[in-house]
Amino acid sequence: MKKEALEKLLADMSIDEKIGQLVQITAQFYEDDTVVTGPASKMALSEAALSMIGSVLGSTGAGKLKKIQEAHMEKHPHHIPLLFMGDVINGFKTIFPIPLGQGASFDPVLSGQLASIAAKEAAVSGLHVTFSPMADLARDARWGRVMESTGEDVYMNGRFAEEMVKGYQGKNIADPYRIAACIKHFAAYGAPTAGRDYNNVELSERTLREDYLPAYQKAVDAGCALAMASFNSLNRIPSTANRWLLHDVLRAEMGFKGVVISDWAAIEELICHGVAENTKEAARLAFEAGVDIDMMTAAYASQLKALIEEGAVRADALDAAAMRVLELKNKLGLFEHPYKDADEATEKQYILCSAHRKAAREAAAKSFVLLKNEGVLPLKKQGESIAFIGPYAEERWVHGAWSIFADEKNNVTLKEGIANKLGLREDIRFAKGAEILDEGQTVADFAKSVVSEVSAEAREKLLSEAVEAAAASDKVVLALGEHPAQSGEAASRAELTLSDGQMELLRHVSAVNKNTAVVLFTGRPLDLRAVEKYAKSVLVVWFPGTESGNAIADVLFADVCPSGRLPMSFPYAVGQVPVFYSEFSTGRPAALTGEDSRFGSKYLDIPNKPLHPFGFGLTYTQFSYSPVTLSRTHIAAHERVTASVTVENTGGFAAEETVQLYIKDDCAGVIRPVRALKGFKKVFLKPGERACVSFEIGEAMLRFYNINMEYKSEPGAFTVFVGGSSETQNCARFMLEPETEEVMR
Ligand code: GLC
Repeated sequence: MKKEALEKLLADMSIDEKIGQLVQITAQFYEDDTVVTGPASKMALSEAALSMIGSVLGSTGAGKLKKIQEAHMEKHPHHIPLLFMGDVINGFKTIFPIPLGQGASFDPVLSGQLASIAAKEAAVSGLHVTFSPMADLARDARWGRVMESTGEDVYMNGRFAEEMVKGYQGKNIADPYRIAACIKHFAAYGAPTAGRDYNNVELSERTLREDYLPAYQKAVDAGCALAMASFNSLNRIPSTANRWLLHDVLRAEMGFKGVVISDWAAIEELICHGVAENTKEAARLAFEAGVDIDMMTAAYASQLKALIEEGAVRADALDAAAMRVLELKNKLGLFEHPYKDADEATEKQYILCSAHRKAAREAAAKSFVLLKNEGVLPLKKQGESIAFIGPYAEERWVHGAWSIFADEKNNVTLKEGIANKLGLREDIRFAKGAEILDEGQTVADFAKSVVSEVSAEAREKLLSEAVEAAAASDKVVLALGEHPAQSGEAASRAELTLSDGQMELLRHVSAVNKNTAVVLFTGRPLDLRAVEKYAKSVLVVWFPGTESGNAIADVLFADVCPSGRLPMSFPYAVGQVPVFYSEFSTGRPAALTGEDSRFGSKYLDIPNKPLHPFGFGLTYTQFSYSPVTLSRTHIAAHERVTASVTVENTGGFAAEETVQLYIKDDCAGVIRPVRALKGFKKVFLKPGERACVSFEIGEAMLRFYNINMEYKSEPGAFTVFVGGSSETQNCARFMLEPETEEVMR
């Protein structure tokens, strides 16, 4: 529809119709099997208000949504189509690794390709918008939603956010199989006090701007169509009521022109936050702050009209918000094609097709991180008996906490993956060994609560069967992990350990078979000290998704060498959290004051360093690095320096290495991180092969918020690190020269 026609439509609409465009509910009002992802509040929406709503979330299915669309447009005074939105986070029906696992691939372009596949499957099932990518910087493993992030690094999160937006949206969201993306959760939701979900976030403006906002900016620059206001308060102002954040920063500074949507019921929750006396005040605050769509409350539907009639809210602001929603529908082509790609035939053709499953299998294998390997891996396909033991040996829920449209029956279990590769053989044994949860432990996912009620006798039997299988085998693979619902939304944990039952299993199995490897299913970094005490090898597989078992079998038997690198540090203990590589030196760095000196920035009882740092990961071969060389030792602001290394595969397996570039500003007007990731490149090398890897470094990479909050670089010395993790000491230095008069001119 042309802009003039859109403007005419808006002008013809009643105030009720305009407000209706700002209301989003689940399709529970139309049908009963919608997915509810938040507290299902009772909403008093009149029939009239219901007929005016602008969008629906949580429902899918080509046939169903076409019916809902047809009925709605029939009733609507101007026949305005609905938007259908949903949480397509790491795949729609073909499920990919959780985003934290995708972060471990260090392959944002791959994640963009996965997003395109997810968009195609979601689009043929009738969805127009996904509430993804989540670009929250995640440095606190207690917070369950780290599983939905791509980790602790500013630069890396930005790369993933932009590639995923491009993957979902393509060049034009009206194109076939494209859907609109929604960047979330704006802003800084990943830094809740005490790691407790929904809690207040206290950040200096410098930290907010330097670390937490850049990834959202990358999504905005990539053309992301929507942004979601976050549940948290930022420096004691709830994001949902924060005009500085949603208007001055997001729109005026960052250039966002799309639709701002609240998070689930977040407008009503302003009352619980203690900034609104009642729903009317909550509606006013949210609308004034710049929230366009009210997700899952009746605040706008019931209060906006009165607020406008009283002059508390401006009518032209309502027009502007309604127009943003109409423009989104128009960009999707919904006025001409209200069903867009919804089609039962293509739904059958594309969903879970072999090409999508192949992509899921390859992506999962790339997400796995080998943290320890003292000889157990890789396994041999012939000539050694192996016992696959543990609650995840045959567990089918391996797609994580945020795959709400997935059906676990489509997932490949570890046992099935092994059988697909080796067949079922005498010398390949399986035993459950333990439950995921301890007696009485409960977790709840969106649909149901899970409580482990297995009796002590039954647990004893599981354990003895497992020990018997372990004792009879050459090697053991123990498939252990968190419950999928122990991470994700509203899943903060104060302890980052495996259940007692699983640790008991590990101790008993390793006591009868030293050749024990652990395959770890988890949605977050865990404290693995005890696991690594008993296991010779540890492979983190996160939650791998639909092709879980096949991908794990590929890596365990070296058909694919592990290549993942940690997107988040694994703490030595939960007491270190939040722990991240790009920390600050302090005035008394422990490294300088020495372990024996009292007066250093360190703990009395544990080391400062995490158990495994950001960027770390092993493989079945070894890589050597030449010293870093720089093309020059001095650069002016308009010049660039090239940092190069030669990487060689000195081992016996062909494998992929992720070469990482970090830069440290040795001295500046404010304290600077001990190093920060500025680039990474992957190289695949056969045994004996070598490759030269180079990075271009320019002045723009050196900028930061200086003492005056100006985003600028400062002349002086910089140290360049290039290596296989954030702990590499392979470095060289260059000088950024001060701006001279002629250059300034
Ligand atoms: C949830 C989440 C958000 C999600 C929304 C819709 O509470 O915070 O990430 O997109 O509700 O399901």
